[in-house]
Amino acid sequence: MQRTLVLCKPDAVERRLVGEILARFERKGLSIVAMRQLVIDAELAGEHYAEHQGKPFYDGLVEFIGRSPAVALVLEGPDDTWAMVRKIMGGTNPADAEPGTIRGDLGTLFTENLVHGSDSAESAAREIALFFPDLG
Ligand code: RTP
Ligand code: MG
Repeated sequence: MQRTLVLCKPDAVERRLVGEILARFERKGLSIVAMRQLVIDAELAGEHYAEHQGKPFYDGLVEFIGRSPAVALVLEGPDDTWAMVRKIMGGTNPADAEPGTIRGDLGTLFTENLVHGSDSAESAAREIALFFPDLG
């Protein structure tokens, strides 16, 4: 079994779309093995989005991801669960994301794209440890 980290970003919580988003992952056959709601402060955002530090959109990204509570969860499934999750999420920009995906069906804004999913097995391990340090 392989695990990956998902965030339902503040826009998803504000729009009451967490249930809709979780239902899509569950219907696919993935299992929720941990979940918590939290406000992502600048320090945690900085670690989570370390790869984007210094980019022009970084400050706006940190401000957005911490503006209200997010829901963090760990999903478990077969090999390359992270890739399956990214497929269900759709492309980064909801305006271009395929219909049938979370971003393609539910979003319009590049900056408010509802969900995050780890982008590799290595990122998944790093991000799960960051958000769920007690998970064995
Ligand atoms: P995420 O990390 O949030 O799951 O999204 P992603 O992998 O699909 O996209 P990534 O390249 O990691 O970018 C992180 C978030 O930053 C915003 N972004 N803005 N203005 C820009 O050029 C730009 N590029 C990225 C997006 O909201 C994206 O989700
Ligand atoms: Mg990313």
